[in-house]
Amino acid sequence: MSEREIADLRRLKTLEEESIKGLSEVAKLAKNPVVDGLISGLIFDSRKHSSWLDAMIGLKTRGIVTETEKDQLLDLLRSHVAIEKSSLVDYQKIIKAAEAKAVKPALGGTTEDNAIKACLEAILEDEQRHHGILEQLINTLSFMDTSVVDVWWRLWTTAVPTAPTRKGGKYAAPKKSSRKKAK
Ligand SMILES: [Fe+2]
Ligand SMILES: [Fe+2]
Repeated sequence: MSEREIADLRRLKTLEEESIKGLSEVAKLAKNPVVDGLISGLIFDSRKHSSWLDAMIGLKTRGIVTETEKDQLLDLLRSHVAIEKSSLVDYQKIIKAAEAKAVKPALGGTTEDNAIKACLEAILEDEQRHHGILEQLINTLSFMDTSVVDVWWRLWTTAVPTAPTRKGGKYAAPKKSSRKKAK
């Protein structure tokens, strides 16, 4: 990574930190639980983005994991995977129940059921991502030569899925024209 690229990542990190500050002001003011919940989620995401940028910048200078650290990390990560797995199962079960009601207005399905389903599905997507990241981390620490910096760079392409942000994907930015139409 060149000095210029590092500077770019640092600039992005500054923007994330500004987002955290600005959104925290909103969260402080919010009395409505949905406003608070949604804005808090954005703050946590911005913290995540800031940490990820830090991790990439830091890899330039601190790519080493000692054997003792590796054993301790693996122990903790493995026990946490069990917790994540059971929460995945719980989310799936509860979403199924919400789904059964949500799609059938004739059976009493309401806006509330649809909302619960949508919210839990979004969380489930995050949980699946968490599970993937933990598994990839465990694999890396267990089987790879972690003194090779490329092993760590590779995690950004294997553990962190980017598909939804691709053009035309679920989270693609709205086109200018479609924004006008929506007004
Ligand atoms: Fe961000
Ligand atoms: Fe999780």
